[in-house]
Formats: sequence, C-alpha cells, structure tokens
Amino acid sequence: MEQQQNNRGSFSNLGFILAAAGSSIGLGNLWKFPYLTGQNGGGVFVLVYLIIVATIGFTCMLGETAIGKYTKLNPLGAYRKLSKKFAFVGALGIIVPFLIVTYYNIIGGWVLKYIADFIMGKLGVMVGDPAGYFGAFVSSAFSPIFWTLVFVLINFIIIQAGVSEGIEKMSKILMPALFVLLIIVVIRSVTLPGAAAGLEFYLKPDFSKLTMATVSAALGQVFFSLSLGMGAMVAYGSYLPDATNIEKTSTIIPIMDSGAALLAGFAIFPACAAFSVDVGAGPSLIFQTLPTVFNSMPGGVIWAIVFFFLVLFAAITSATSLIECPVSWLIDSKGMKRRTATILVCIVAFLCAIPESLSLGELSGLTFPTFNGAMGIFDFVGYIAENVLMPAAGFFMCIVIGYVWGIDNFEKAVTNNGQFPFRTKAFVTIMIKYVAPIAIFIIWLQSIGIWGLIFK
Ligand code: TRP
Repeated sequence: MEQQQNNRGSFSNLGFILAAAGSSIGLGNLWKFPYLTGQNGGGVFVLVYLIIVATIGFTCMLGETAIGKYTKLNPLGAYRKLSKKFAFVGALGIIVPFLIVTYYNIIGGWVLKYIADFIMGKLGVMVGDPAGYFGAFVSSAFSPIFWTLVFVLINFIIIQAGVSEGIEKMSKILMPALFVLLIIVVIRSVTLPGAAAGLEFYLKPDFSKLTMATVSAALGQVFFSLSLGMGAMVAYGSYLPDATNIEKTSTIIPIMDSGAALLAGFAIFPACAAFSVDVGAGPSLIFQTLPTVFNSMPGGVIWAIVFFFLVLFAAITSATSLIECPVSWLIDSKGMKRRTATILVCIVAFLCAIPESLSLGELSGLTFPTFNGAMGIFDFVGYIAENVLMPAAGFFMCIVIGYVWGIDNFEKAVTNNGQFPFRTKAFVTIMIKYVAPIAIFIIWLQSIGIWGLIFK
C-alpha cells in the first residue's frame, strides 16, 4: 500500500487545475446550464445556481480534493480508509459516472452530427426550421445511435492509446480557445436586434418563479457541472503533492466552470429573443439557437464548425474522465487489464445508450413512474444520477468529513499541517457539519418527490 502510494505520479498545480477544469467544463456548462436556466425561470435560476456554487459547491470541491490528497487512493479505497462503514460513498463513484456516461455519449453524438452537417453545407437548411430539424434527428432510430457510437469510439481510442497526457497538453490551448470563441459568440448574440429581452430574462431574477423545484434543479446542476459527488475530484486530488494549496484550487476551478456556464447563457438567451426560440425548449436549446446565430455571422459555417469542434473537445475531456472512474476500479479491484476494462465499459455504456436514445422517439411511450411524474428512459437515468445519487454522495461526504474523519484532520490536509492558511475555515466548518448536509437533505427530499407529498 505504502509502495503504491509513493509510486503515484503527481500533478503540478497548473496540471491539476487544467485536468480538473477539463473534467468539469463540458456539456454540463455549454448544453445543460442554458436549457435548465431556460426551463427554470431565467435569472432566478442563475442566482440560486451561483449561491449554491459559492457555498455547497466550493465546500464539496474542497472536501473531495482534501480526501484525495490525504489518502492518495482511488475513491473507493479513500472512503474505505476513512471509514469502512462509508465505503459505499466511494462505490457511488463507480456507478454514477457510468450512468452519466451512458447519456453523455448520446449528447456527444449530437455534437458530432451537427459538425458533420455543417461540413456538408446544411447550415442553411437547418436554420429554416431549427426545432423541426433537431426533432427529426433525435427522434429517428438509427442516426443518433450511429453518432453515439462514433463518439464512444473516439473516447475509446483516446483512453486506449494512453494519450490522455497529450489531451491535457492540448487543453492548454483549446480550453482558452473555447473561452475566446464563446466571447465572440456572446458579442454577436448580444448585438442581435431584440437581444435586450433575452438579457433581461437571463439576468433579472423574477422571484415569483422561485420554487423548490428551481433549487433542486440548481443543486443537481452544481454537482454535475463541477464533477462533484462521485469521487472524480478525490481521484484527481490523489495525484496532488502534499504541498498544494487546495483552498486556492477549489476556488479557481468553480470560478472557471461557472464562467464558462455563464458565457454560454449570454450566447444563448439574446439569440432566443432575437429568433423567437422558446427558452423552455429543453435539451434542444443550444442546437436550435447556435446555428441560427452562426448563420447571421459572416463566414458563419466556419465559426460553427470551429465552435462545435471546441464543444466536442470539452465533451471529450469530460467523457474520458467519466469513463476513467469505472475503468480504474476494474483495473485496481478486479485485476483487469486496461484494454479489457476500457472495452468492457465502452461496450456496455453504448448498449445502454441505445434504449435511452430510442426513448426520444420510437420508445417514447415507455416511461418509469417517479414521485415527480412519469419519465422516459433518457430523463429517468439522468434524474437518478444527478438528482438522487449525486446529492446523496455529497451529503455523506459532509458527514464523513464532519463527524468521522473530523474537522481537525481535514484542516491538517487542507493546510498541509499548517503550511498554508485556511482562510475559510469557520465558513467551511459550519457548511460541512450543518448547513450543507441539512440543505442537501431537504433539496433531496424535493428531488425524489417526498417534499411535494408532505407539503401538498
Ligand atoms: N462536469 C462535466 C460537465 O459539466 C461532466 C462530468 C465529467 C462529471 N466528469 C464528471 C460529472 C464526474 C460528475 C462527475 O459536463
């Protein structure tokens, strides 16, 4: 064990921030944040989201990283080391990323399909009826599954070839490029005629739209977007040298991540207003608005291809981080070879994606009852992963740190035995012991529908 710990490679500070940002900035920011904002009342959702990032998000990011840095183990081993009873929290870190990857691959496939269409000169056709174009595509049986497979294969090749390091190097260039291009799209979008109404929707909180459902959606999205609640940050933290100021990294990463999400919103909502796209359109939102924005730019096709390529890159860095969770468990605990484990995870994930994708068309009649109403397979898997299991993992992490491992030990890990100051100690202590677990629990009751039954 000791041996194994010492043999762990280690990250430089910048390397860690890039890897963690690569994992966290993905389709969650660019695709999901805008459509959730649209569905949940606009500005008020953004406000609740940012408050949760600064409180629960920051706390959980620091907590997970500290556990990883201290134990230098994979999530399952890490939680087992802190408390045998709570080893199951680490186990969630294998199951949940797997669940997420099954539908993440589908969205990755959509991005690929749009890139292919831009290249084939279909931008003009697309913008004629963006909603119809998207709807016809996702509800068809074959095409979305084909593109999902292509996305899976790309990820497989990257993980298999062990070029993750190369990807990290590329992310030094491509991540900033994504930000630059986002800003260009934002500038185009906010200068569209009629943009003001969209900005108002996005920025001006309408408190009459604030419900428990808004808060619950925001919490799930914070966990999803920051890659929290399933050990991804435990895994990254385990590669950190002891002398890393993780209070700082846990501040920088959520700021970058929220920055990307906020920019995506600035690109989308003015365009919704300008081209009368329904803000509540759901998963199709960015696929409807962005092509229309690009179409209104000189050289639009080129912008569209480059932008969607960068979205694809962000999606790949997140997807590979998700796949890595079950793969590294199969290697460490089941003694599998990396190649076998990767093939197995990719194949099973792809097979699961088939009914999920079909549930957006052919199989839409097949639904699962939940306290929150019946859901198709695609929505149901996302709901279980993001709204039920991830917050539960966050809740138990707070309990483990606050009451089992103990704040003193946690502080030692954060400050590296006093080397760094712990400026937010009082805040984080109260968050971890009381506020975060209680808040997460209440919001979780809402997510699974029990709240609604009690307070009818
Ligand atoms: N955060 C990523 C996104 O926003 C998704 C993701 C990647 C993730 N790795 C994760 C979510 C690990 C939870 C845990 O797209």
